[in-house]
Amino acid sequence: MKIQKTRKLIVVLGFAAAAAVASQARASRDLVKFPQRYASDDAHYATVTRGGIREEIFATRAAIEAARKGQPLPSGTVITMEDYRDGKLFRYIVLEKRAGWGAEYPPEQRNGEWEFQAFNADKTVNETENVGRCFSCHKSQSAQDFVFTLDRMTKAN
Ligand code: HEC
Repeated sequence: MKIQKTRKLIVVLGFAAAAAVASQARASRDLVKFPQRYASDDAHYATVTRGGIREEIFATRAAIEAARKGQPLPSGTVITMEDYRDGKLFRYIVLEKRAGWGAEYPPEQRNGEWEFQAFNADKTVNETENVGRCFSCHKSQSAQDFVFTLDRMTKAN
């Protein structure tokens, strides 16, 4: 009887924690806006192709400067990826870093001060994208500030 009660409590607490994380994730999703001026203001530093996929990657100029000097990417860094499938723009995905962001995430999820966002080809937020996946995969790059292509940034012209 007692064991059953404890088990029930654990289940309830588990649900509460999951709900709390989910609602935080929703709130944080509103942070990253579409980077309207990336194409004119930012630096194109990498093209990645894989099968029918072509990715064009841009970063704010202060980020490129910092990467070249081996310094941490500054607050205000925005990395924008145009994602083409079979030559057609499919979506945009964006990473943005700001001082103080990310503090609400548990350590196993947090990617430093980065937030993630996925946009449709028409630049509206893709509400159906599970940004938790972005956090999980980019977490593997924690040794290089959660950015897969950091090395390409240091070599950008
Ligand atoms: C399964 C792993 C995986 C997932 C999930 C993932 N990414 Fe990435 N991301 C990568 C890899 C690998 C690269 C490097 C470019 C390449 O090889 O395609 C990358 C590159 C990027 C870049 C360019 C900067 C960098 O880190 O090199 C941005 C911006 C980005 N991803 C945003 C996102 C967003 C937003 C999401 C969620 C909607 C997401 N990613 C989900 C693996 C992932």
